[in-house]
Amino acid sequence: MSTILVTGSNGQLGSELQELASQFPDHQFLFTNSESLDICDEETVKAFFAQHQIDYCINCAAYTAVDKAESNNEAAYAVNVNGAQYLAQACAKQNAVLLHLSTDYVYHNNQNTPFKEEDTVNPQGVYAATKLLGEQAAQMANPLTVVIRTSWVYSSYGNNFVKTMLRLGAERDALSVVYDQIGTPTYAKDIAQALLKVINTFQVTESPAKLCGVYHFSNEGVTSWYDFAHAIFEEANLACALTAIESVAYPTPAKRPPFSLLHKGKIKSVFDVKVRHWREALRDCLKRLTA
Ligand SMILES: NC(=O)c1ccc[n+]([C@@H]2O[C@H](COP(=O)([O-])OP(=O)(O)OC[C@H]3O[C@@H](n4cnc5c(N)ncnc54)[C@H](OP(=O)(O)O)[C@@H]3O)[C@@H](O)[C@H]2O)c1
Repeated sequence: MSTILVTGSNGQLGSELQELASQFPDHQFLFTNSESLDICDEETVKAFFAQHQIDYCINCAAYTAVDKAESNNEAAYAVNVNGAQYLAQACAKQNAVLLHLSTDYVYHNNQNTPFKEEDTVNPQGVYAATKLLGEQAAQMANPLTVVIRTSWVYSSYGNNFVKTMLRLGAERDALSVVYDQIGTPTYAKDIAQALLKVINTFQVTESPAKLCGVYHFSNEGVTSWYDFAHAIFEEANLACALTAIESVAYPTPAKRPPFSLLHKGKIKSVFDVKVRHWREALRDCLKRLTA
């Protein structure tokens, strides 16, 4: 039986992993949150690992408030960079594999084909920059690190675009949403399943180091925030009228990439991860939200 530590487990992804855990009785899960394991506190991280033999650590803990990070860069750095590094150092001491989550926002280039893992990164803004630095710090501290960049995450847990649209769509007659940011929504439940698939592949390999590196995971397909909102309203039978606007009409403290489609060939071929279309995943999430 292997032991999987999940940090930040009260967030969207951590909550989905908690729900999924019962389907994996061969693993022992240790779910921690910002109170029981503050990843920014190096001594706390060391003490936790001294008490537990960890085989895999899934780092779901992150400073994810993209706009707030612009005026709160120290807090974002502490979690996204220092926290990732402390976990990686502790994992390295125990020969544990670190699965570290990152973001499509590390890409911000003039490109209109899906980003591959080796493409040039160009983070704009504090959140994106700290996420990239966190990837690098984790990889430096622990050679057994898998970085998974994902995009536009939503879930029935936590706060996210889907839940905001459901609320606003029920409250208002009309809404404006940007149509010039292109990417793929990703159901956190699907990321959780992909992570467990990655771990299962590590369980049977004799060369774990060869599996490490950067990977992409999102749902399949491509859309804009406007079209995503349109799909949410359609699936939920909400009559709210939608207007497509440009990002310049909806200024935010942090810049978002205009295009952040992720190429998923690597995770599919190395870990045999199956990826479903974003619309199918959305339907699944909405079913859970309305159940
Ligand atoms: N959300 C997205 O759209 C998106 C897109 C691309 C990539 N990602 C990445 O995917 C990963 C998971 O995202 P998510 O949406 O599940 O995030 P989330 O819902 O915001 O959850 C993050 C969790 O981290 C916890 N946390 C914050 N500081 C901590 C600390 N010092 N020690 C321990 N836990 C701490 C938070 O706990 P508290 O609430 O108690 O602070 C929260 O439960 C993150 O790495 C994120 O950067 C997310």
